[in-house]
Amino acid sequence: MEDLYIRIEECGGRLTTSIIEVHDLCYTYPNFAEPTLNDISLTIERGDLVLLTGPSGCGKTTLCRCLIGLIPHFYGGELTGDVFVSNLSVKDHAISELAQHVGFVFQNPENQLFALSVEKDVAFGLENLAKPREEMRKNVDWAMDLMGIGDLRESAPFELSGGQKQRVSVASVLAMKPEVMILDEPTSFLDPVTARKLFEIVKSLNEELGLTVVLVEHRLSLLSTYVNRIIVMDKGRVRLDGPPLDVLTSKEALSLGIGIPKIMQLYQNLVENNVILGKPAISVDEFAGAIRSLLKK
Ligand SMILES: Nc1ncnc2c1ncn2[C@@H]1O[C@H](COP(=O)(O)OP(=O)(O)OP(=O)(O)O)[C@@H](O)[C@H]1O
Ligand SMILES: [Mg+2]
Repeated sequence: MEDLYIRIEECGGRLTTSIIEVHDLCYTYPNFAEPTLNDISLTIERGDLVLLTGPSGCGKTTLCRCLIGLIPHFYGGELTGDVFVSNLSVKDHAISELAQHVGFVFQNPENQLFALSVEKDVAFGLENLAKPREEMRKNVDWAMDLMGIGDLRESAPFELSGGQKQRVSVASVLAMKPEVMILDEPTSFLDPVTARKLFEIVKSLNEELGLTVVLVEHRLSLLSTYVNRIIVMDKGRVRLDGPPLDVLTSKEALSLGIGIPKIMQLYQNLVENNVILGKPAISVDEFAGAIRSLLKK
């Protein structure tokens, strides 16, 4: 299985490590005059763990829909530019074919669950691909164990809490063993402790299996320490893209009104009051470390 993830593909005579490529993407929903996405270009490398953020309505979910082929195949509208996932152009490949490479956890788990039992929901994608029964059982058990929902196997999805539904949605995508997983606000129904657990699972899949992950989230303070890159959108455009520290300390991040982690604001206040703390801290642990070394001096 590990082989599935770490792979550098020969593509048109060039060696590429990128798994998602977006070139000059513009998109307008049907019957709308104004485009929702404007001139987006970005590349996501294999093994990246990316946080996609930005104000509500800036187009994050719409961009995700483009990455999994729901746009243009399901939503229609006008798309210009190109989107490639695993070297497949989303314009030219069916959603079902793209789904074998890229898994999507919907913003609202209600949109993902429809079978009569949790187990059937987790197995749904594999059944559609007509995978051998043995492989299917192994993948379903692995994904359910990982998400801690083994005891919900026989439950009806509609009986579950929002948080449980969210964990079932993630398991149903993981069971497909995609190369890229896109999670659209996967913790909106989770308390901070369960949200952190989910991020830790995602991080370990990224580190141990090389799974590429795009996480859409508003909770920057929870997530900034997990990711290697942050992309900030505003009004249908990519405004910032880089390592967490660079993005979060940029002046533009403040002006875009994204939720800069409180610990960074506190750090900034101290620096402005001439407390010299060295490299900016993103997490509470880093901050505590900086204070400890200051006290030792
Ligand atoms: N199916 C649709 N048809 C028409 N317009 C849509 C559709 N879905 C979204 N939009 C519009 O596209 C814009 C971007 O919406 P989108 O859901 O992509 O934003 P978002 O960044 O994911 O927001 P949020 O953080 O609230 O989830 C909004 O103005 C929204 O009203
Ligand atoms: Mg959204």
